[in-house]
Amino acid sequence: MPYYRSVGEIPPKRHTQFRQPDGGLYAEELMGQEGFSSDSSLLYHRHLPTAIVAAETYEPRPDSRSPNRPLKPRHLRTHKLDAGGDAVLGRAQLLANDDCRISYVVADRPSPLYRNAIGDECLYVEDGAARLESTFGVLELTAGDYAIIPTSVIYRLVPTGGPVRLLAVEATGHIGPPKRYLSVRGQFLEHSPYCERDQRGPTEPLLADGTEVEVYVRHRVRGGTAWSRHVFAHHPFDVVGWDGCLYPWAFSIHDFEPITGRIHQPPPAHQTFQGPNFVICSFVPRKVDYHPLAVPVPYNHHNVDSDEVLFYTGGNYEARAGSGIEQGSISLHPGGFTHGPQPGAPERAIGAERFDELAVMVDTFRPLELCEAALAVEDEEYAWTWSRPAQS
Ligand SMILES: [Fe+2]
Repeated sequence: MPYYRSVGEIPPKRHTQFRQPDGGLYAEELMGQEGFSSDSSLLYHRHLPTAIVAAETYEPRPDSRSPNRPLKPRHLRTHKLDAGGDAVLGRAQLLANDDCRISYVVADRPSPLYRNAIGDECLYVEDGAARLESTFGVLELTAGDYAIIPTSVIYRLVPTGGPVRLLAVEATGHIGPPKRYLSVRGQFLEHSPYCERDQRGPTEPLLADGTEVEVYVRHRVRGGTAWSRHVFAHHPFDVVGWDGCLYPWAFSIHDFEPITGRIHQPPPAHQTFQGPNFVICSFVPRKVDYHPLAVPVPYNHHNVDSDEVLFYTGGNYEARAGSGIEQGSISLHPGGFTHGPQPGAPERAIGAERFDELAVMVDTFRPLELCEAALAVEDEEYAWTWSRPAQS
């Protein structure tokens, strides 16, 4: 839900003749959400965006999902996953429900062109750098960046300067800033932890030549999702200009301004995005609670309607010291289980002035299931770390 943007060449009036240097018309495309009753953009293609010359089914490696039974808090060590592959087909799916899939990849090569027709994607760059190339242009991504890619945008991700570590949250629907931070017309309000100046969008068109270009499509089928592969007559990166409010955009977690207080601030203070039946929050380095009797780490808590996923992406996470949590760890604290700081952490934290932690949280309102890759890198002792002596 970013603000209006105009890139490249567009005609002064929409839906009017806009001609190429050879005199032919550019092919205008309206891309819009929610039955064209929500955000949209108009794109001007050199070739017909409808021209495909082949279509075939594609079967990715099957993802098995199993319920969190017996119900336990889980700790997944993403850095123990196999590295390599590309940022689309190489994703290791970890946690999933019908609203979102959470996966991780260490991408070391360009991805194929990809169109996710199921919903928006939120990519978080843990480490490294990449170019996100799409029909709308280029976004350069570095560590700490979120990238929001709207449904059905054709894109590819190209690592620049070595492997790039990514957490991917794929929604079944749309991802945007929390509604409470937006005016009725969509402007960020003064109490929002970030605003338009922090958002980055493509700045110029990206044009590529080519014929018979493959695009992987993840799409809807009855009861779930499936993959197909389309072959486009011409390269889809042929847009000379576009305008509107629908486009891929990036935002750095380092531009998220933390909301702090005299006593502990609840998790919604960290909310960064909302999706269908889930939220994404950012925990960033910040001054901590400054009441004279404050206890800076969180109280034990039970988010009874949610499963809480926390991806530890930098700094020291004071509340979890001694639990085995490390850089790249993911914890899953499901509904039906009370969780909280490690034993002794509240006492140790008293007097702290600042926490140097960086984490991305995904709270889902429906239960998450565990995928095969998650079980392969699970720290099975984690569930008992509140009752057993601390690990080093
Ligand atoms: Fe929590």
